[in-house]
Amino acid sequence: MAHIFKTHMDLVSTDRRYAKGAKKRLKIIDEIMAMRPCNRREKLHFQALKIWLGGDLWKVSKALDELLEKFPTDILALWMGHQIDFYLGDSKNIRDRIASCIPYWDPEHPLYSFVMGMYSFGLEEAHEFEKAEDVGMAALESNPEDVWSIHAVAHALEMLGRFDRGADFMENRLHDWSEINFLVSHNAIHTILYRLEQGQLDRCVQLFDTFVLPKCEKKPALLGLVDGSSALWRLFLEDVDVGDRWLELANHWHPSADQAFYSFNDVHAMMAFVASGDDKAADAMIDTLNAYIVAPSNQAESNYGVTRDVGLPICHALKSYGRKEYAKVVDMLVPIRDQVIRFGGSHAQRDVIERTLLEAGLRSSSKSLTEMLLSERLAQRPNSIYNLAKLG
Ligand SMILES: [Fe+2]
Repeated sequence: MAHIFKTHMDLVSTDRRYAKGAKKRLKIIDEIMAMRPCNRREKLHFQALKIWLGGDLWKVSKALDELLEKFPTDILALWMGHQIDFYLGDSKNIRDRIASCIPYWDPEHPLYSFVMGMYSFGLEEAHEFEKAEDVGMAALESNPEDVWSIHAVAHALEMLGRFDRGADFMENRLHDWSEINFLVSHNAIHTILYRLEQGQLDRCVQLFDTFVLPKCEKKPALLGLVDGSSALWRLFLEDVDVGDRWLELANHWHPSADQAFYSFNDVHAMMAFVASGDDKAADAMIDTLNAYIVAPSNQAESNYGVTRDVGLPICHALKSYGRKEYAKVVDMLVPIRDQVIRFGGSHAQRDVIERTLLEAGLRSSSKSLTEMLLSERLAQRPNSIYNLAKLG
């Protein structure tokens, strides 16, 4: 199980460099299994990992569902399944996978609050925002340092348009989410999103420098780089000068730019290349993705269709945005707008693409499009200062 655990960690990283390690580890597990009998749960994990290495995340999702049907309190399968749902943009199963297992969990179990934290996030992604907030807050009562529950509540409050309350919530709990854990940069950008809405740019930059891309971090995880691009691109769209931060972020992205492993990452790398003016890296990224989608051997990966239909067109659109070809951006993003969910992430993360389209629409005077986009946004969050400002 230790090898199984580590292989899950390698694959959930969305980083091809770690996936290579997973391949070696699966071989070790295979050898161990040949030497001694293993139980059904171990076998089901092994099967799921073999599928995962092949890259079809929809099949991994099913394999983990099958495991959970037999072992609903397997926290590893539950957590990995939750992440897979997130990577697939499966906003139904991200809620229902957890919901179907909750009755088997003892509320006194030390991991129960983590299960409820996952349920809270699943509810939020399934548009049950009020319930998500309640469930997440209840989980935090028993474990205030559960950073996933904090994250779930941050999402729920943002979707409910409770920006001041969200900013207070994140700032008051800063010590609970900002100690060493994998989600520091991500919870920092949720705080930044609230501060952006409040127009507190200085605080945004401070949070970015302290938690998203601190100078001491030599080799940030890809999630940290995604968070960095996501936060700075929103400022880029508003023509905010962020000094040399884009350059620094782009330099961190360079070693992973040729992965074509998870389209969501590629798009965020492209933001850094475009905004830092690195045309060479941006062109190389397009070449990498084109090469990836013409290789028949990649077709079995769920990332293949997503790259072809969503990731690559968005990368082209971002490049055009950098060249100020705003009408082109509109032409490229409008047809795939309803497909963007396929590259995973949360509603809040995907909003960066919606904002790109809106800004391109405004700058290319696409009046009817921008009116429609703004009506949609205002219907959801009428009190958003960002939405109201764009209304003019
Ligand atoms: Fe998030």
